[in-house]
Amino acid sequence: MKLLFKRKSGGSAGQVDLDRLPRHIAIILDGNGRWAQRRGLPRTAGHKAGAETFRTIATYCRDIGLEYLTVYAFSTENWKRSRDEVSTIMALLKKYLLEAIETMERDNVRLRFMGDLAPLDQELRDLIAQCNAISERLTGCLCSICINYGGRAEIVHAAARFAEDCRIGLMRPEELTEAGFEAYLYSAGIPSPELLIRPGGEQRLSNFLLWQCAYAEFYFTPVLWPDFTKEELHRAIAAYQHRDRRFGGVKK
Ligand code: FPP
Repeated sequence: MKLLFKRKSGGSAGQVDLDRLPRHIAIILDGNGRWAQRRGLPRTAGHKAGAETFRTIATYCRDIGLEYLTVYAFSTENWKRSRDEVSTIMALLKKYLLEAIETMERDNVRLRFMGDLAPLDQELRDLIAQCNAISERLTGCLCSICINYGGRAEIVHAAARFAEDCRIGLMRPEELTEAGFEAYLYSAGIPSPELLIRPGGEQRLSNFLLWQCAYAEFYFTPVLWPDFTKEELHRAIAAYQHRDRRFGGVKK
């Protein structure tokens, strides 16, 4: 058993067993705006800091051998924010993708994008296409970035695709299984997250990975996303490793 981290306060709750990591962690990046407001800064400064935190945490997840990381970067509802805020988030995503195009091969990190990407501007969609093409050649940690994503919309989109396959005779409604339906989701081929982390103090799912989180363990922390550290990630994983996961069964 490889132990990674022990809280100063002691006790086994702060220790991470690297041999029992979840395969897939999902994170809702929340609290950027409040982080900035508390410092008297514009909300956009919080998103810039949040993008830095994302770089640090994503790199660290790869380093400890996590197979899948999925983050909620922009929801279908986030278009309601000011034009300045939306364009800052889009600019940060572009900057990140431009950097990733240079480094993902070296780091063996694959990127995937989940959501309705059609309304995104052409430059961002071109960068996404480049990242997808590079990812096809790679085998390492798969980081999925949810942009213009909504969990209900994802399920409706999957249902429509299945219905279309029925219409053209490829599928029959009575053949549909849960595993078969998953193949129509944006997350096709990716195992469901075992651990969902939400920083920022809210304790809700906010339309994120509704199907995929059916059996996820939830970890909520008041720490705002720009302040989220590797130690906070350790705490979340350690908490997960202490959960009793029964999947509706009883403990043997
Ligand atoms: C939620 O915080 C955060 C967002 C809506 C945007 C997250 C986007 C980034 C960090 C930019 C780049 C992303 C990547 C993956 C490179 P909030 O503004 O809702 O916080 P609040 O609840 O404090 O207002």
